[in-house]
Amino acid sequence: MKITIFGTGYVGLVTGTCLADVGHEVLCMDVDAEKIARLEAGEIPIYEPGLEDMVKANVGEGRLRFTTDPATAVAFGTLQFIAVGTPPDEDGSADLQYVLAVAETIGRHMTDEKVVVDKSTVPVGTADRVRETITGVLAERGQNLDFEVCSNPEFLKEGAAIEDFTHGARIIVGTDSERVKALMRECYAPYIRLQEKLMFMDVRAAELTKYAANAMLATKISFMNEIANLAERLGADIEQVRRGIGSDPRIGYQFIYPGCGYGGSCFPKDVQALARTAGDVGYQAELLGAVEAVNQRQKGTLFSKLVRAFDGDLEGRTIGLWGLAFKPNTDDMRDAPSRTLMEALWAAGARVKAYDPEAMGECRRLYGDHKELELVEDRAEAVQGADALVICTEWKAFRSVDFAWLKAQLAMPVIVDGRNLFEPEAVKAHGLMYYAVGRGDSLR
Ligand code: UDX
Repeated sequence: MKITIFGTGYVGLVTGTCLADVGHEVLCMDVDAEKIARLEAGEIPIYEPGLEDMVKANVGEGRLRFTTDPATAVAFGTLQFIAVGTPPDEDGSADLQYVLAVAETIGRHMTDEKVVVDKSTVPVGTADRVRETITGVLAERGQNLDFEVCSNPEFLKEGAAIEDFTHGARIIVGTDSERVKALMRECYAPYIRLQEKLMFMDVRAAELTKYAANAMLATKISFMNEIANLAERLGADIEQVRRGIGSDPRIGYQFIYPGCGYGGSCFPKDVQALARTAGDVGYQAELLGAVEAVNQRQKGTLFSKLVRAFDGDLEGRTIGLWGLAFKPNTDDMRDAPSRTLMEALWAAGARVKAYDPEAMGECRRLYGDHKELELVEDRAEAVQGADALVICTEWKAFRSVDFAWLKAQLAMPVIVDGRNLFEPEAVKAHGLMYYAVGRGDSLR
């Protein structure tokens, strides 16, 4: 099958590469010529386990190709995936200019029947706007070509994107066209197990499913963070509470880990966009607003613990930081709690010595010239002589620590753990103060 993918960002590149890997002929189009040149040379702009090898192999086999030419891209695929970015507008709603620009490109260059597939996370009603845009351009050209627009939202987790694409929980396709259903079945047919998980629904239901899934997951996290904050004040250990409630299958163990707040490119933006969509149709989404507000507050929790641990005076202190990425196995720092923390520390006159296994380059790009930031080679250097250690990301490599050694490194025996990596008793036995989320030493 011939498939065109517009956008070689995270979603576009993973989608294109995985589809090429099972034998489809894939052409990825991007307006960024430098990015395309690098991709053709097998260099990928993001960190995603397994992706680079897969890109190289499929480029080598000739199944995965790249272009910057819109006419070539539109002519190529029967399926035209739109996988460009939908960044938030100033008001929190998704900015559709890139999606609609692709729709216009398709309308401008198409000469035969196409199926347009919305892969980007887009507000409910976008498929209709894509359809209108293409119809408008075709009318300008005096053409009357048939085409369909369907919604096929992605559910990829960073760090596990290939696994999610090939073994995901479901594939959602929003369409009422039998032809589109047949083509989408063909597209995903090589993934035999996914075939059974193919769900067809109305286009608006598909669009809303994506937002509802992310908002539900974000709700679970904010709920747990709220209970953790409460547990802390009540002298209860949130880890015991977590195990206690997770054992109820109606609640489940997944996504109920308290922490220093959710970040990344999806949850913050999608929760806000859904709340905005609700507002647009005259519905005040109370819960979504609260999920977002709790998360904002939670991202400030590490800083407020430090403020209390140092009696309000962080001026001139050096804080060692383990983990910059918003979660492990990625170099992504979008909306990461580490950023909220570092910015608050700098404003309070403190210095940061930070280490992350993958996100150092990204941090340098974001804050490189900040005079109060030192990016160090390993986790040991980050704590040498620091006044406290703060953990922002639960990288596996941080889970095993010699606390006697750690105590000897730190100028003050303070650990603030935003990910509850350790048993409080084990840490405290070495004379360290251990402030975690909903457990550990009390700061009240
Ligand atoms: C998410 C969805 O999981 C995915 O299905 C969707 O397509 C895109 O958004 P991603 O943003 O890559 O994926 O990250 P995810 O692994 O879901 O984590 C999101 C955030 O929640 C992270 O900051 C993580 O640290 C936090 N989290 C997750 C918690 O704080 N507690 C948990 O129990 C789980």
